[in-house]
Amino acid sequence: MTLPPDQKLYEGKAKQVYATEAADEIIIHYKDDATAFNGVKKAQIADKGVINCKLSAFLMEKVAAAGVPTAFVRQVSPRDQLCKKVEIIPVELVVRNVVAGSLAKRLGIAEGQRLSRPLLEHFYKSDALNDPQINEECAVILGYARAWELQAMREYSLVVNDLLRAFWGDLGVDLVDFKLEFGRYKGAVVLADEITPDGSRLWERGTGRHLDKDVFRRDLGDLSDTYRELYQRVFGERL
Ligand code: TMP
Ligand code: ASP
Repeated sequence: MTLPPDQKLYEGKAKQVYATEAADEIIIHYKDDATAFNGVKKAQIADKGVINCKLSAFLMEKVAAAGVPTAFVRQVSPRDQLCKKVEIIPVELVVRNVVAGSLAKRLGIAEGQRLSRPLLEHFYKSDALNDPQINEECAVILGYARAWELQAMREYSLVVNDLLRAFWGDLGVDLVDFKLEFGRYKGAVVLADEITPDGSRLWERGTGRHLDKDVFRRDLGDLSDTYRELYQRVFGERL
């Protein structure tokens, strides 16, 4: 799909956002660009945009069916989704089932320890500040989100976690952690952005092999091959 450059509203590290004729809808275009460490490391990953667009569309539909409102409307081409235009709430929610990544580093614990229940962490969405961790009180007092919005975000995140854990578990994959972003739409909180292996940790059950963007962050192999493997597990065919 060719999108008019003059309609581009925003360009992020992995996606572009375009206006549509409807004031309350946008097109989200998935690029092949991968970045890590806040854009310090960059590469083009063949077909990542196609894989992530389809995976996220598929998972957003499941999430909506489970009762969590989302900004996703429908996929309109291999790299493009029609979505509701939301005001992004600048608080990222990370859900963790297993110790990994920044939690392991921050507390000096080894990766791999299973948590007794899901841990929710909040980060202030700011590239300039490298997404610092904050708590709910800070988010409310500084006006990043209202208390009721955070409550809804936390409840929705746990529903999404239950759904995704079961989904990936059935495919022989452990959901270690993932990041969600929410937006405001017509007075309600809705799940926005994406659900993809760019923003999740997915470990192959039994081997612990990484099937997510850590392959790129940590130079563990070919991310394009990894994402193709994940695609095949989900859709039963090779891309
Ligand atoms: P972390 O362990 O580095 O805090 O990451 C937790 C989860 O959030 C992990 O699944 C990857 C995801 N994530 C993003 O989606 N964007 C980011 O910028 C970072 C740092 C992590
Ligand atoms: N999303 C961040 C970046 O683009 C970091 C990450 O995912 O590791 O650099």
